[in-house]
Amino acid sequence: MSTIIKNGNIATSEKLLKGDIYIEDGIIVDIGENIQRDSDNIIDASNMYVVPGGVDVHTHLNLHTGSAVAVDDFYTGTVAAAFGGTTSIVDHIGFGPQGCSLKHQIDVYHGYADNKAVVDYGFHGVIQYVDDHIINEMKYIVEKEGVTSFKIYLTYDFKLEDQDILRTMKRLGELGAVTAVHCENDGILNYFRNFYLSREMKSPIYHALSRPEEAEEEAVNRMITLASLAGNAPLYIVHDSTAKAAKLIENAKKNKRNVFGETCPQYLFLDETLYNKPDNEGLKYIMSPPLRKKFNQDILWKYIENGTLDVVATDHCPFNFNKEKQYGIGDFSKCPNGAPGIETRLPLLFSEGVMKKRISINKFVDITSTKPAKIFGLYPKKGDIKIGSDADIVIIDPKKNVTIKNDMLHENVDYTCYENFELQGYPVITMSRGEVIVENGQFKGKKGRGKFIRRSVSKV
Ligand code: URP
Ligand code: ZN
Ligand code: ZN
Repeated sequence: MSTIIKNGNIATSEKLLKGDIYIEDGIIVDIGENIQRDSDNIIDASNMYVVPGGVDVHTHLNLHTGSAVAVDDFYTGTVAAAFGGTTSIVDHIGFGPQGCSLKHQIDVYHGYADNKAVVDYGFHGVIQYVDDHIINEMKYIVEKEGVTSFKIYLTYDFKLEDQDILRTMKRLGELGAVTAVHCENDGILNYFRNFYLSREMKSPIYHALSRPEEAEEEAVNRMITLASLAGNAPLYIVHDSTAKAAKLIENAKKNKRNVFGETCPQYLFLDETLYNKPDNEGLKYIMSPPLRKKFNQDILWKYIENGTLDVVATDHCPFNFNKEKQYGIGDFSKCPNGAPGIETRLPLLFSEGVMKKRISINKFVDITSTKPAKIFGLYPKKGDIKIGSDADIVIIDPKKNVTIKNDMLHENVDYTCYENFELQGYPVITMSRGEVIVENGQFKGKKGRGKFIRRSVSKV
């Protein structure tokens, strides 16, 4: 099967050129001006941007929290991803039973994703405790299972202590694997949560007040120190929500530390005043870290622009407002943490980033696709428009104006945080390995067509 995409504005993280892309059996075979080859399909991309498919390296499909299960599974979540122009995800697998092996949860997640996903997918492992067995198992997981990054948490039930983090990062660094970290100081959170709950201050705004910026900044600072002591092991800070935490990452990079930064659309477009919305709507935004004061947003954009923040991923972790989020009525601490976003990431960043001239089209490609693919070992198969790469390609119509309504989205959840946002430009075609899976609002893929990606170690 062959396809030619004609006359597009082809954007990579480095270049913008007008031309054609020729695809054979799912692989990009030729890129250039006016390619003359016979092909089974022709797609006219005149006046459109043609970009590498989005790579979302922070999703929580099917996540079982203590009280609820995230409502997108590997089918609904990846269909929504495809509509939003994302063609690969790397999902953060959830905690398993106490004392389980690393492989246990990877097997569980293969069971969740097999025969369901419609885009290609990988998993980040999760380190929920550390002993000799876990340290010894890491090599097998990295080399044989194709899982080359692991998440640790500094809060929640299975948080790790500093000495275990050092052991973990030392070993993962030796293996070339990346440690991704949820950075919040658990002691600070516990103190303030108890402080507010004991004074009957339980509405959604106290979720934010009980998780102050300082809790995140202390944890980011500590992780940079620990990674350095672990032999400059690769450290990836997930969901950076504050300007000061980003500043710490900037300094670490200046000092040649092997640190990568991620932020998410919610921290660029939403702020903490939303927790005070009437009718308990503030529950929609209960996520960790919480939404912050608005002044952070412009500064985070600057840190995207200057390369401090390498990636914008989603932390997609959806719960219905009218069901699971209601557990938090009368007590914010009972509300499942997380919000949807897998479908709106590229449209928001294209409209508010590229069209509003905050970032170039090349930077857009870098933060949504190329950089995450490189950091997490999906490159060069994913994350670029390059001869030999998978033909994971998205065509964006910059003239298509869309007002976001939850009804038009495909996330399996009853709200979006971006209702009524007016966007300039939207993805109109999503292609995965040469197959058009979304075209003009129609899903054309097949359940289960997505393949597990055995990742190599980081290419940065
Ligand atoms: O609130 C959030 N972000 N939920 C998902 C789990 C996590 O901490 O990333
Ligand atoms: Zn997290
Ligand atoms: Zn997360």
